Amino acid sequence: PSSEEQAILEAHQWLTKLYHHLLRHTKDGKQALAYLHDRGFSDEVINLFQIGFSPLSRDFVAQFLEKKGFHKQVMVNAGLLTTNGNGEYFDRFQGRVIFPIRNPIGKTIGFGGRTITDQEPKYLNSPESSLFRKSNLLYNFDIARSEIRKKGEAILFEGYADVIAAHQAGVLNGVASLGTSLTETHASLLRRYVDTVLVCYDADNAGLSATYKAIKLLKKVGCTIKVAALPYKYDPDQFIQEFGEVKFRTQVIEVANTEMSFIMKFLKKDFNLNLEGDRLHYVEKVIEEIALLHSSVERDYYLRELADEFKLSYDALTQELMSQMRNVQ
Ligand code: GTP
Ligand code: MN
Ligand code: MN
Ligand code: MN
Ligand code: MN
Repeated sequence: PSSEEQAILEAHQWLTKLYHHLLRHTKDGKQALAYLHDRGFSDEVINLFQIGFSPLSRDFVAQFLEKKGFHKQVMVNAGLLTTNGNGEYFDRFQGRVIFPIRNPIGKTIGFGGRTITDQEPKYLNSPESSLFRKSNLLYNFDIARSEIRKKGEAILFEGYADVIAAHQAGVLNGVASLGTSLTETHASLLRRYVDTVLVCYDADNAGLSATYKAIKLLKKVGCTIKVAALPYKYDPDQFIQEFGEVKFRTQVIEVANTEMSFIMKFLKKDFNLNLEGDRLHYVEKVIEEIALLHSSVERDYYLRELADEFKLSYDALTQELMSQMRNVQ
């Protein structure tokens, strides 16, 4: 790495310590700490994930970095400060709870800053740089790696809060793509470690669409996929808060759906199944998806399910499937 990259890396380690200290031990951090406790985060996970707070000050961090000998313009390039171009420098994350984002060897390379006063944006993240590339970074991979290996399975969440809440609930193999959608690089990274990925995105419309896309990507790199059984509109962190850790493990994670049963449910949203035409289109669409399954046992299983649900002849569906599979090849 260049000496500028070295400096940026070093500044991130200093700031991780500073933000965390400010949260834990200062009056400035009290409101943020109360916010985190209110959300149900324990002191143990606040420490483990080095969560912090950037005080509501224009230049507290700027001054800190200057005293440590960092060049302010380099810190602007690193996304830690902003400038108005008149030689004044400001703290980028002021007033926000700070989630350090670590690389696979546990070094902080970026921050996610969450508002605690309903400001926009809800999360302000470090900008892309040569050091911080969201498209090939999975949040929490450093901490989750050993559990991922042990289980042969990784859980993919949407947000930092979900990863942390799950960890607190004893689910230790969780990672998240950082606000961006999952990329093929993310998928390949996971594939190197596991056969199975359990997708546990938010169960709102955006999250369900993202789940469908993630399934396609993960399949492309050869993963087996499961989809968590979250009730509609919940995210994992909300579920844990409302129903507790045990129910999260036993009613969401341990009873995850197969990829296909998720897809069959998901595709229904595009159709009005009271209409005959829509019903037929839906059935065709599902058969297209069934044609993509690798195992003939699986194909047969879901074809029968489809035939049962719509009172259609299994033989007719089989014929349709055969012609679909010829199209695919
Ligand atoms: P909480 O509201 O704190 O529980 O966060 P969440 O994780 O439930 O947030 P949400 O489901 O809205 O978003 C999931 C992830 O997307 C977050 O962890 C962020 O990484 C990212 N994200 C959410 N909102 C924003 C935003 O306003 N800007 C950016 N850049 N990223 C966001
Ligand atoms: Mn969401
Ligand atoms: Mn969410
Ligand atoms: Mn949430
Ligand atoms: Mn399969």
